[in-house]
Amino acid sequence: MSCANGKNCDETRKRRRALVALGIMMLIFIMLSGFSFLKSRNQITPDSVSFGPYKAADGKRVFQSYNCMGCHTMVGNGAYLGPDLTKEYERAGPAWLAAFLPSAGGWPTEAAVRTQLMNQDQIADTGVDSIEAYFKKYSGAQQRVERRGGGTSLMPNLPLSSEEVGQLIAYLKYTSALNTEGWPPKVKIEGLDRRLQLAHGTHAVAAAAPAAAAPAAGTVAPDPAARGEQLVKEYACGSCHALDDTRLVGPGWGGLSGSQVSLADGSTVKADDAYLAESIRQPNAKVVAGYPAGVMPAYDKLLKDEDVNAIVAYIHSLEKQ
Ligand code: HEC
Ligand code: HEC
Repeated sequence: MSCANGKNCDETRKRRRALVALGIMMLIFIMLSGFSFLKSRNQITPDSVSFGPYKAADGKRVFQSYNCMGCHTMVGNGAYLGPDLTKEYERAGPAWLAAFLPSAGGWPTEAAVRTQLMNQDQIADTGVDSIEAYFKKYSGAQQRVERRGGGTSLMPNLPLSSEEVGQLIAYLKYTSALNTEGWPPKVKIEGLDRRLQLAHGTHAVAAAAPAAAAPAAGTVAPDPAARGEQLVKEYACGSCHALDDTRLVGPGWGGLSGSQVSLADGSTVKADDAYLAESIRQPNAKVVAGYPAGVMPAYDKLLKDEDVNAIVAYIHSLEKQ
């Protein structure tokens, strides 16, 4: 014992106590490490969620590779330029997301969301195939369409393939299903909703939309190009196509009519009426060189022949700038 020579006799006892405490800590650490290998406590995992053929785990990789968190938060992590996306799927649903994500620079219109409901993956996922039922199920989609449908957004267009869009939807479906214990908290400020509505001009848009759509539904407008312009607005083609020759998600339309178009298979085609009509009905039949296939929805089931002809007439009227 080192008690002799005037040394502190407590020394050994203290050291022994410290060793026992350390031992207990070690034991707790090992036990907790063991627990981390157990199945997560009723918490959903990315491997168990999919949207159509797309897996949430793949969507997570897409989310990371495009650095969505550089602008958005996800369960509280990330940046604050864009809104939190944790519960986005629950609110807006997969059809709104499918209409928005490939052309994020523009907000989807009702017709753009309706276009997505033609997709079998969508019907299988949501169990609805009409826009009324969809809006009932995802009231956030209706709010988004009414508030800002057809307008431009502050998010940039990202070069997402249709596969990546499906994977992102699967990922957002997974994060919506996460039990986040109430995160993100709901903003509860009296009158804020009302002020937001005013700021976004909800009432003006809601009042103007039916008035603008009325002649489209009823009597056929005398000028096909004018009717085409109306249809293009309604279906928000402009979120992917510029009216001049600027490249957006798809090629600009200015000067397109009658020009020579290079296709992805190396051939060239004249942009006559038949080509333009086919490009609207079946965009994948001839894919323009330098643009992704599968991004533009097929409109063959949505647009009647006279609608397609009217849009073609409108594209005719757009000069190269
Ligand atoms: C450079 C910044 C930036 C990046 C990168 C970005 N976003 Fe956005 N995003 C925004 C902004 C800003 C808004 C809000 C736009 C507005 O209100 O006009 C937005 C809006 C959205 C919305 C609609 C939110 C709502 O209000 O309903 C979704 C969904 C979305 N982004 C998903 C994504 C996904 C998925 C990615 C990655 C693939 C991504 N964003 C990458 C900036 C970004
Ligand atoms: C989500 C984006 C997106 C939307 C929405 C969209 N398109 Fe497209 N469109 C594209 C892309 C990408 C291409 C080029 C690839 C291809 O040929 O399929 C394209 C090609 C075209 C072409 C051929 C252009 C050329 O230079 O030869 C026409 C015509 C066209 N779209 C018309 C329309 C019309 C009309 C609408 C609305 C009813 C529409 N698009 C909606 C993305 C879109």
